[in-house]
Amino acid sequence: MDVGIIGTGNVGGALANGLAAAGHDVVVGSRDPDSHHIEDTEVVAQQAAAERGEVVVLALPADVVSDVAADLGDALAGKPVLDPTNEYPTASGDGSVAERVAAAVPDAHVVKAFNTIGANLMADPVVDGDPASMFLAGDDGDAVGVAESLASDLGFEPVVAGDLSAATHLEHLARFWIDLTQDHGRDIAFRLLREEATS
Ligand SMILES: NC(=O)c1ccc[n+]([C@@H]2O[C@H](COP(=O)([O-])OP(=O)(O)OC[C@H]3O[C@@H](n4cnc5c(N)ncnc54)[C@H](OP(=O)(O)O)[C@@H]3O)[C@@H](O)[C@H]2O)c1
Repeated sequence: MDVGIIGTGNVGGALANGLAAAGHDVVVGSRDPDSHHIEDTEVVAQQAAAERGEVVVLALPADVVSDVAADLGDALAGKPVLDPTNEYPTASGDGSVAERVAAAVPDAHVVKAFNTIGANLMADPVVDGDPASMFLAGDDGDAVGVAESLASDLGFEPVVAGDLSAATHLEHLARFWIDLTQDHGRDIAFRLLREEATS
């Protein structure tokens, strides 16, 4: 797929590397494309990356993501928009960041994704031989399907957690992940265990 990633930081860089390695056409959007370099990946203006992506990932600080999404406006309409953002140490308001992003771009199909693991494992999420689960939450089945497919391509076991209201749980889970790293380091990941027959 043509994947547009907005943000050249830890998450943007890791997802760009992992999705490009999986065969996707990745373009990364920056406020200042000339000053950022991501190996083997084109870096362009944020608006251009959003326009070129069939699916767009908002790899941005949580406190700006809704405003940036609103500014990208029409470029996101009708597309799966994946939100990996987290507020830490606490949620800043009612509901999840993902629901606030969805309110800012009502014509986009927002999916909470890639927020419950560290950027250090995002492009290679196999821990001690087992793939990490990647929990996904969204209201649009096709958009969630795109997120599942990209998560699988990166090496995750995708797990649909529910509609977008479940993003609240995933954002709490991410805060728990961050707290766990203090004693257990960053090479840790969540995995849903289940009997094959019920999966
Ligand atoms: N780091 C992790 O392990 C991890 C894991 C899971 C989820 N998350 C979440 O994912 C999000 C991104 O995390 P990160 O670690 O990649 O952050 P980061 O390294 O700070 O990168 C965020 C990027 O967003 C862009 N940006 C910053 N301020 C902006 C603004 N005011 N307007 C528009 N763009 C702006 C910048 O790219 P340009 O300068 O190129 O524009 C920056 O590189 C955060 O919400 C974080 O909580 C992080």
